[in-house]
Amino acid sequence: MSNWIEVAAEADLFEGAGIAVAPAGHDIALFIVEGEVFAIDNQCTHGNAQRCDGFVEGHNVECPFHQAQFSLRDGSVGCGPATEPVKSWPVKIEGGRVLLQLA
Ligand code: FES
Repeated sequence: MSNWIEVAAEADLFEGAGIAVAPAGHDIALFIVEGEVFAIDNQCTHGNAQRCDGFVEGHNVECPFHQAQFSLRDGSVGCGPATEPVKSWPVKIEGGRVLLQLA
């Protein structure tokens, strides 16, 4: 069952920075890398930091607190101190709108 929800305009996104969106009570960070949009949970699994404020390098984002790195592709941990991955969300673009599949 698909449940696609519009969360932003593609024009809201910029290479090298994330934005936070909150569809249906979720806290999700959106990123765009080389024209492709990625969505992962915004809250770090190591502490009270938000990934949308992190440093983007390639297809990874670095947590602003302790520099753990997470893959924008699948939320996996590339570098500690975090050990728990974050959830990644399916993304599609339609007519310049960013949609996430929440269920
Ligand atoms: Fe993110 Fe510590 S709060 S690595």
